[in-house]
Amino acid sequence: MLVASKELVASARVGKYAVGAFNAVNMESAQAIFAAAEKSRSPFIIQITQTTLKYTEPEELFALIRARGERTSVPYAIHLDHGRSFEVCMKFLRLGVTSLMIDGSLQEDGKTPRSYEENVDVTRRVREAAHAMGVTVEAEIGRLGQISGEEEAGDNLTRPAEAARFVADAGVDMLAVAIGTTHGLYKGTPHIAHERLKAVAAEVPIPLVMHGGTGVPDDDVRRAISLGIAKVNIDTQIRVAFYDTVIAQVHQVEKNFAEVDASGGVRKYDIRKVLAPARDAMCEAIKGRMSVFGSTGKA
Ligand code: 13P
Repeated sequence: MLVASKELVASARVGKYAVGAFNAVNMESAQAIFAAAEKSRSPFIIQITQTTLKYTEPEELFALIRARGERTSVPYAIHLDHGRSFEVCMKFLRLGVTSLMIDGSLQEDGKTPRSYEENVDVTRRVREAAHAMGVTVEAEIGRLGQISGEEEAGDNLTRPAEAARFVADAGVDMLAVAIGTTHGLYKGTPHIAHERLKAVAAEVPIPLVMHGGTGVPDDDVRRAISLGIAKVNIDTQIRVAFYDTVIAQVHQVEKNFAEVDASGGVRKYDIRKVLAPARDAMCEAIKGRMSVFGSTGKA
C-alpha cells in the first residue's frame, strides 16, 4: 500500500522504532527491498536519487516499483533521496513520489554549502508544491561527516536552536541531522554525537532522519532511535551485499567454464545465475537492518 512517508515515520516515532529508507537503482534492488519488507512485515521507504535517473529511464523504474507495490499489503512510500534543486524535486513529484528530500544544505553541485537563507528559500518553495500534492518533505541542516568526538566536531553538527528555527521557517515534515554519520563506508568505527542528537530532538518537534546508516553499530542505531531518529537511510550496505555476491558468483562461473572447456563441453550463459543470488543477498542485508531498526512486525 503506497502512502506518504509522514504517516510511516510518525508511527515510528511514537512506537520508538525507525523506518528504513533503502535505495533502489534497478529491478533487482527494488525487488530485494519489497521482498525483505514482506518477509519482515515491515513498513519501508524505497528511495531513488537523481543520478539514478541517468542510469535508467525514470518512467520505467517508477512503473516497475508501482507495479510491484500494487501487489504488496505492506505500507510503503516512494521517496526522492537528496533532491538538490527545485526543478529536480518537481520532476520527481511528476513521476509520482509520495515523499521527497530537498537537500538545501548544499548547492546543486552537492559540495558547496548553501547559506541558511538559501536553504530556507529552496526548501520552502519545494514544500509548498509538495504539500499541495500531499507529499511528505524531508530537509537537511548541518554538514554530514565522520567525526572523532563531539567536542572536535565544531560547527558541522546540526545546531539545536538553528534546527528549530529552520523547521519553523521552512515548515517541513522531517529533518536530516548531522550527528557524525556520513555516506559510504567509515574509517574505523564511527562516533555518533548522541548528546547533540538529544539536544536537537529536545528543540525540534518533528521526526529526525539519520543518513549514512551503513556501518553505524547496531547499539548506536538503537540509541539514536530512542533519542528521536525515526528514519534511517541505507544504501552502501545494499551495494556491498550485491558486489560481494556478484564477485563470488563470477569466480564460480569462471571455475565452471574452465572445467567445461577442459572437458571439451559447451559453455552455458545465464545472467540469472549471477543476479538471483545477489538479489537474495540484498534482501537478507535489508531484513537485518529492519530488525535492528525495530520495524519488523510493525506492518
Ligand atoms: P549509506 O550509503 O552510507 O548507507 O547512506 C545512505 C544515505 O544516507 C542515502 O541518503
